[in-house]
Amino acid sequence: MEKVYNDNKSRYIIAIDGPAASGKSTTARLIASELQYVYIDTGAMYRACGLRSKQLGISLDNVPKIGEMLDEIKIEIVFHEAGNRFLLNGSDVSEMIREKDISRLASDISQIGIVRERMVDLQRDLGKGGGVVMDGRDIGTVVFPHADCKFFMIADVDTRAQRRVIELKAKGIEADFEEVRKDLIWRDNNDSTRKLAPLRKAEDAIEIDTTGLTIDEQVAEIVINIKNKMYA
Ligand code: CDP
Repeated sequence: MEKVYNDNKSRYIIAIDGPAASGKSTTARLIASELQYVYIDTGAMYRACGLRSKQLGISLDNVPKIGEMLDEIKIEIVFHEAGNRFLLNGSDVSEMIREKDISRLASDISQIGIVRERMVDLQRDLGKGGGVVMDGRDIGTVVFPHADCKFFMIADVDTRAQRRVIELKAKGIEADFEEVRKDLIWRDNNDSTRKLAPLRKAEDAIEIDTTGLTIDEQVAEIVINIKNKMYA
């Protein structure tokens, strides 16, 4: 007899964390699609904050101005199975937030306490009903420490750089392997040495090394783990 999800179990919160370009977003999107959940990319929210600070010419040292910016910022996600779209104050910025300078700005702005507070509130609100796959740096440690399933994805830096170059080129963004590699190393260091919600594996997260895995393999490994828990 086929097992069915009971109501509670079909509304899991799945947390996926890991360093830059470790394959979190592609994997999370496919898992969400497989489970009929929504996918929430929290990195895109910090990227949107970084982009807005650039548009307004606000220095990241000017915390009161960043506070004003947070009061006027409106981040909306338009959910699509093929890839969500991000609206910043009504404009679609889905491609713009992937630019290299925005990656660095996102990493820097995400160190500011009021930025994290505001984004974490938004993330908790979006995820509170369950039925979500959320990826980022602190989902299993800070945003949803009681998430039903937690994964921490890693891969060696060359593999990550190669994958990111392909991903950026597919989006029409120019990318050089060495530069991308350097940027990943810089961001990993910036994200894991910060005071607030640093990048780290939650104690109860399952580590998945995707270095030698294809996308299908890494999705399958995670889905098996989730289903084992649901049907236990
Ligand atoms: O996709 P990629 O791994 O390159 O990065 P991302 O997930 O889009 O995140 C961009 C930046 O936002 C990261 O380098 C972190 O500094 C920050 N971030 C964060 O602090 N907390 C999160 N939950 C997600 C992202």
